Amino acid sequence: MKKLSLAILFASVLVAPMFANGQSESTGGQPSIGCAIYKFDDTFMTATRNSFAEAAKGKAKVNIVDSMNIQATQNEKVDLFITQGVDALALNPVDRAAAGVEIDKAKKAGIPVVFFNKQPFDEDMAKWDKVYYVGAKAEESGTMSGQIVADYWKAHPEADTNGDGVLQYAMIKGEPGHQDAELRTEYSIKCLKDNGIKVEKVAEDTGMWDRVKGQEKMAAFLTSKGDSIEAVFANNDDMALGAIEALKAAGYFNGKKYMPVVGVDATAPALQALQEGTLLGTVLNDSTNQGRATFNIAYDLAQGKTPTSESIGYTITDGQFVWVPYQMVTQDNYKDFM
Ligand code: GAL
Ligand code: CA
Repeated sequence: MKKLSLAILFASVLVAPMFANGQSESTGGQPSIGCAIYKFDDTFMTATRNSFAEAAKGKAKVNIVDSMNIQATQNEKVDLFITQGVDALALNPVDRAAAGVEIDKAKKAGIPVVFFNKQPFDEDMAKWDKVYYVGAKAEESGTMSGQIVADYWKAHPEADTNGDGVLQYAMIKGEPGHQDAELRTEYSIKCLKDNGIKVEKVAEDTGMWDRVKGQEKMAAFLTSKGDSIEAVFANNDDMALGAIEALKAAGYFNGKKYMPVVGVDATAPALQALQEGTLLGTVLNDSTNQGRATFNIAYDLAQGKTPTSESIGYTITDGQFVWVPYQMVTQDNYKDFM
């Protein structure tokens, strides 16, 4: 008993003064922020992470860790951040359903959290007022990718290769259950229908946001469906680029054989593909502003301040959310994003 209380006393003497009030000797007086990314090996999240790190320069001591696509690993990292006594957390969960547990832990330790890219459920967001979310409205990106294909379809009657007046499409989805995968899928097709276009899904599978998987799934679709596919939707650019590889291998983009393919993110390789004329279009998922907004909120929180739209430079909606707008990217404007 005596030993234990001594240990606690010792630990609190060591830890508490170092990290209290957003100040710490070991961070040179800067507040400390613990940041966990669902996995480093993700193109869009790498850009977001870089933007976050860039925004932190000279302001806060940030420790950014790789959860390696395993929620249990992220949980351990979060526990470690909490024992280290960081002043704020910035979390990109592996599994958005795990955000609730992360909030419980953070709240117990009194450490505010800003989530980004993977949106916690509403009931979890409601658990504590020191919880924020930075993201983009997935519906918006779905609608925009649908609009790109709708515009193409209307301008190119020959796109209806079997001439049945129906658009036969293939869908390559991101991670199942991810708000971006589910809503982009739903809203892209809804947009086609809202444009008065008759649609038929001929193939759908998940490529888990991954380029190689996108290529494999597209190759499998081509094997099973042959030339019946008239357009390809991919929930992100990496999978769209993978699909383009598979299509190239099947003789597309060489002479007259064309396939409209759309993605989301507007990554550098996707803009390159637009320039080359393979990718029909994409949607800017603004990693720069999402990373910056996430940092700005975490920075205020880490200093014990309540973030406001003015202090962070982004509009806070419903007290807890920052929505960064998407933008449609096509042949007409892709150069603006390069
Ligand atoms: C999406 C993005 C994908 C992937 C995913 C990870 O917003 O479009 O490319 O990065 O987030 O959660
Ligand atoms: Ca058709």
